[in-house]
Amino acid sequence: MNQSNIKNLEFIINSGVNYFLQDSPRNWYNTSTNTSSKYIKEVDNEKLERIEKIITKIKSFDTPLKNSAQNLVVYDGNLDARVMFIGEAPGKDEDIQGLPFVGRAGQLLNKMLAAINLKREDVYITNVVNWRPPNNRTPTDKEILEFLPFLQEQIDIINPDLIFLLGGVASKAILSTPHTLSKLRGSLHEYQSLKLNKVIYAIASYHPAFLLRSPQYKKASWEDLQMLQKKLNEKN
Ligand code: URA
Repeated sequence: MNQSNIKNLEFIINSGVNYFLQDSPRNWYNTSTNTSSKYIKEVDNEKLERIEKIITKIKSFDTPLKNSAQNLVVYDGNLDARVMFIGEAPGKDEDIQGLPFVGRAGQLLNKMLAAINLKREDVYITNVVNWRPPNNRTPTDKEILEFLPFLQEQIDIINPDLIFLLGGVASKAILSTPHTLSKLRGSLHEYQSLKLNKVIYAIASYHPAFLLRSPQYKKASWEDLQMLQKKLNEKN
């Protein structure tokens, strides 16, 4: 962990926010320490530098979203992960903490990960849009297109084997299709990076916030997670 994050962690602990330390340790700027996990690739220390450059680029990208948001939210998890989870945009809790999926939807995401024996530090978690849209509105097509190059660059850096798309916004953006999520669900898609010379499998599934509102879709979500687990184990 780099120095500024140690300081940040000390600050958080001293301020009494100990729930921060529950579920799983945050790994923001730390490259993998968990190399024994089958969900982690070889450690590549250059990734950290490349991700930090992207963060700087996103920070300096001019967007009105900056005016209403408090903190930039780029990623959580592991830079050497074999699987990337991509959501839509930060909500209120994420905006406050500067980390993706830390609110109620994030707690459900943690449970979804645990259901297939994954921890947050086994995966890379990010969003299509990196600033919270006002009142949690859905990002506009323009915003999605503006932020997409940053997301594609993150995919090129992380170089995952699999991408799990949380909800319609992430699915349509990454699969570059107007199809609805219900049409995209249930099959294995291929994401073609212009830079990486390999196939990255992508699975489109429900957003945890949607599952909180519509728990009857959890069964279908579980099927999608099992597809992910099977694919991860196949490639191992
Ligand atoms: N919803 C998202 O799409 N992303 C988050 O980080 C939190 C909630």
